[in-house]
Amino acid sequence: HGTSTINDKGHLTIGGCDATELAQQFGTPLYVMDEALIRQRCREYMEAFRASGLQFQVAYASKAFCVMAMCRIADEEGLSLDVVSDGELYTALKAGFPVERIHFHGNNKTPQEIEMALDAGIGCFVVDNFVELQLLNELAKDKGKKVNILFRITPGVEAHTHEFISTGQTDSKFGFDLGNGSAMEAVRTAKALSQIEILGIHSHIGSQIFEVEGFKMAVEKVAGFAADVRNELDVTFQVVNLGGGFGIRYTGEDTPLPVSQYVQAITDAVKEYFTQHQYPVPQIWVEPGRSIVGDAGTTLYTVGTYKDIPGVNKYIAVDGGMTDNIRPALYGSKYEAMLANRANDPAEETVTVAGKACESGDKLIWDLELPRANTGDILAVSCTGAYNYAMASNYNRIRRPAVVFVKDGQADVVVERESHDDIIVNDVIPARLSKEAL
Ligand code: LLP
Repeated sequence: HGTSTINDKGHLTIGGCDATELAQQFGTPLYVMDEALIRQRCREYMEAFRASGLQFQVAYASKAFCVMAMCRIADEEGLSLDVVSDGELYTALKAGFPVERIHFHGNNKTPQEIEMALDAGIGCFVVDNFVELQLLNELAKDKGKKVNILFRITPGVEAHTHEFISTGQTDSKFGFDLGNGSAMEAVRTAKALSQIEILGIHSHIGSQIFEVEGFKMAVEKVAGFAADVRNELDVTFQVVNLGGGFGIRYTGEDTPLPVSQYVQAITDAVKEYFTQHQYPVPQIWVEPGRSIVGDAGTTLYTVGTYKDIPGVNKYIAVDGGMTDNIRPALYGSKYEAMLANRANDPAEETVTVAGKACESGDKLIWDLELPRANTGDILAVSCTGAYNYAMASNYNRIRRPAVVFVKDGQADVVVERESHDDIIVNDVIPARLSKEAL
């Protein structure tokens, strides 16, 4: 997919770069991101929304992969940015991302985070609960500032069951509940707060969603609520943010729609349901994360050991694993992979790909068809661009890999590989434990 091909050496290439050479040049494990594909996904969203004729913002959900170079691409492509912590906010600000296009999410923003965002002049807060609403108003008052907010509501749509059960989502740590009146109460409260400017409403129904029905149902509920709010409180929402969650293809089991179809379903539903309530059609914002960066990522590993348990299983072990991709261990997520240096060799056996961490559950792929892999072969796991680097850890004090962006045959490091010194950079030995004190 993307700009991946196989060259005349039988090597996988990504963005015009030979993956085997990338592995030699930068070492493994290595996250390789196809920059052209990231930009293509950004443009698919922007173009689909432009075609709708509605006012819109596409906010990249930076949690999926938040590094400064990625913030630069999101900015260049005209996207906004969704951040959920001071760390993501700091990354964006340091990358020079326009602060008025940054949206701050989270169910437990600390006072320090709120102050940092207020000082920076953030575009809007997505307010999650009553405690935050009051705190935000107080802190903004201290600073003599007004703040734009969206209310995060739980629409009662559970996108992962095929029935879209309407109460499924009520037991959630996120947002104001639509069903029990707390969302209405939130708007009433906010209306009376001096520093709060009500911009609109936000709903996120889940992640890795393939069907449009859940989104349509969320729009219907949000439109109904907006109409109720207008009647009861005389407040009109200018913005409806429908969150992220647009699915991608990790393996043949996944059946996502093209980006344009999700966008069209949403914008059509917005026009239909808001018009039904004689409501001025609001701006539409979305927050895709995975579908911007997921399929642009490939992780390269070097194959190390091989273990054959006759009649039971065969393991190949790579020089990374759950520390750079926790998703298989955490969610049972499935991935596809190939030998990057022998891309034309036919599959000969089924293997389990294991990582190098001290944990039996450290597996990346359970049943991968591969040629007989040798020590030193380069394994390329595809679709690792979202929630891989972002969720990487130093378990076993394994160093986190480098990230390179590839484009038109050029490879640029955007995150350096961690060094041994990085591993101990925050360690402190108290004087009474120092070797000299012995
Ligand atoms: N907006 C909100 C409010 C969210 O909570 C999320 C994801 C997104 C946008 C972006 O969703 P996306 O388009 O990426 O599906 N670690 C998990 C995914 C967690 C998603 C959390 N929220 C994974 O690796 O699958």
